[in-house]
Parts: sequence; structure tokens; C-alpha cells
Amino acid sequence: MSNVPIFRPSFGNRPDRIVGREDVLQAYANGLASYTGSRDRSVLITGQRGMGKTALLLEMADAAAEAGFVPARVTCGPTMLDDIIDTLQRKGAPFVKDRKTPIKGFSAGALGFSFGLTFTDEARNSYGFRAKLEMICERLGDAGKGVALLVDEVQPASEPIRQLATTYQELVGDEVNIAIVMAGLPAVISEVLEEDTLTFLNRARKIDLGPIPTPAVRAYYATAFKRIGRDIDDPTLDRAAEAVEGFPYLLQLLGYYLVEYTSEGDRISEPILSRALDAAVTELDANVFGAMLRPLSRADMDFLRAMSIDSGEPTHVGDLEERLGVSQGHVQSYRRRLIDAGLITSPRRGELAFVIPQLGTYLQRSSER
Ligand SMILES: Nc1ncnc2c1ncn2[C@@H]1O[C@H](COP(=O)(O)OP(=O)(O)OP(=O)(O)O)[C@@H](O)[C@H]1O
Ligand SMILES: [Mg+2]
Repeated sequence: MSNVPIFRPSFGNRPDRIVGREDVLQAYANGLASYTGSRDRSVLITGQRGMGKTALLLEMADAAAEAGFVPARVTCGPTMLDDIIDTLQRKGAPFVKDRKTPIKGFSAGALGFSFGLTFTDEARNSYGFRAKLEMICERLGDAGKGVALLVDEVQPASEPIRQLATTYQELVGDEVNIAIVMAGLPAVISEVLEEDTLTFLNRARKIDLGPIPTPAVRAYYATAFKRIGRDIDDPTLDRAAEAVEGFPYLLQLLGYYLVEYTSEGDRISEPILSRALDAAVTELDANVFGAMLRPLSRADMDFLRAMSIDSGEPTHVGDLEERLGVSQGHVQSYRRRLIDAGLITSPRRGELAFVIPQLGTYLQRSSER
């Protein structure tokens, strides 16, 4: 048994296993196996905090490497374009061989490169991002490798994203073997999609990370607990899997406390589960929900609180007008805002529900306080 704990609740780490995202990974693998410009080669991933965007990007980068691509996983920010070039140079270098020209007795790289994927001083100082990326793609292409870009934490109105998007489109036009995945919060991505220069993203494959199906959580818990020598009976396992409600961060948190509160060879009993669940939910409140709700206005919060009264059941839009004492138009506009923010969904016409069910219970608890 390794010393790395199985359950590691935190942000941005690689989980022991990616549970229940087979569809997304399969679609991405298909995209990589198909042609440049295929829809599954430009993917936009949205999901609330803790829904597993970063974890998925880590896995997709590995999948890309396996499929013959050199992956560059970067975070959106001022140094993003440089980071992409640096990463591709570093990760791509082992695949590029210098052509030796024995007659002249020195090793000559491709034009613009001094050796491997390292630019000549001139190329480094005078070429822009587009030229550099294109040169790297070409050189890697000669070595039979594609380039897979994975951008995390996409920000709106970001100059590097605009530049990246334009360059990507141009390279696709030139049939360069390239693919791109971008991930961000739902509200941010919908803002990004409205920018004129980024219209190509509207044609990208959009994947909204919803909850992980409970059977997948259950199956994972069953094998994970077995691996670390914890016994659990079926009804308790069912309850644990259901309590997660498909939220990856909670899957990790609850698993963590269940392990913390038992020793190897112990049975996870019903009271232990209750205690672990309490601890997990307390931590969830502090670390996740607070941050999720911070950007919201007072009226947004009133709206969500009015929904939370239904204790996990879907809310009828008509009831909201009554509870809030507002017009149908008001409810409609806030409904839209909060759906775009990825906080609520409409499971059926005229009904609204929380994307992360525990958020509803959190709001109830916090308004009782
Ligand atoms: N499919 C999954 N199966 C198991 N664990 C997962 C899965 N997805 C994410 N996790 C775990 O859940 C936690 C939160 O995931 P992650 O950091 O990827 O979320 P995120 O969507 O990137 O959040 P943020 O918006 O804050 O960046 C991490 O501990 C991660 O390892
Ligand atoms: Mg993340």
C-alpha cells in the first residue's frame, strides 16, 4: 500500500481516480483520433467550483500524451502564452531529433531552432506567439506529434485568450495537428462566448460538468474502501454514495473523514458515517459555498434562499413570485442570471433546482443561524 492517501479533498489536485467522467474522456479521445478542426478537438468545459474541471484537465492531458500529442496545460493569466511555448519546448524536446550534417561537422536544427525545440536568439527575440507556436507545431509534426492545449481557469476579456483563440483558428485553417480544451466557471464561459473575437468557441464542443452519477460514486467507494482495508455494509455504502449527491469535492471530503475516523480492519458503521458526513459538510460550508456565493448580489441571494425552502425538492417558479413578492419578469431575469452562473438548473418547465443540492441545504442552515 502506498503512503499517498486515497482521499485528498483539495482544489486542483489529481484524484486517485477520475470517477464518472467516461463520456467526456471518450469524446476527447475520439476528437484526438479524428482530424484537425473536428468538433471534439475544441472543447469548452464548464462547471461550478469543485465540480472537477482541473482534475479532468489533468486526465485529458495524459490522454493527449497517450494519443501522440504533446500536451501543454496552463492557467489563464498574463504569462499564459509564454507558458504554452515553454511547456511545449520542454515536453516536446525528447521527440525532436537534430539532423546531423556530418559533412559540415555541426548539428543543424530546423530553421529558427538552434537545437531541439530551442529557438535561435533571433527567433526568440523577434517572433511573436503565433510564429513560435506554428514553428513548434511544425517541428513536432515532423516527429509525428500533435499539440494539445489545455487552458484552465479561463477569464473573460483576457487579451491572452483572444490571441490564443485567433492563433488556434489560424493554425486549424493551415491544417496543423492541434487540439484545445478550455475550462472555467459557467458564468465566466458564457461571458467569454459573447466576445466578438471568440465566436469560433461557439462551435466548440461544450460540456457542462454536472454531478457524477451515484452508482459510479458507490462503485468507486466500494473498491476504494476495500483497498484500504475498511469494511462497509451495503446499506451504509448506499447512504454514503447518496450523501455525496454527485459532487466530486464532497466525494473526496466524505471519503477522507471516513478513513480518518476508522483504522485498518475496522467497519464503517452508520454512526461513523453520520459523524464523517457532519465533518465533511462543515468543511464544505467553509471552503466551498462561501466562495461560490461571494460574487452574488443581495437579490441573487434572496432568490436562492427562497428556493432553499423546498429542502432539496425542485421549486415551482410560481411559488417564488409569491415568496419573494415580486413580478414574473423579476423571477425570469434572476432565473436566467443564476442559470448562467451555473448555480441552478431547470429540471422541468416551470421548475428550478440547485446544481449542487448541498448548496440548498447550506443556505437553509446559514439563514437559520
Ligand atoms: N471525477 C472525479 N472523481 C473523483 N474525484 C474528483 C473528480 N473530479 C474532481 N475530483 C476531486 O474533487 C476536488 C475538486 O476538484 P477540482 O479542483 O478539479 O475542481 P474545479 O472544478 O477545478 O474547482 P475550481 O473551480 O475551484 O477550480 C479535488 O480534490 C479533485 O481531486
Ligand atoms: Mg480548478
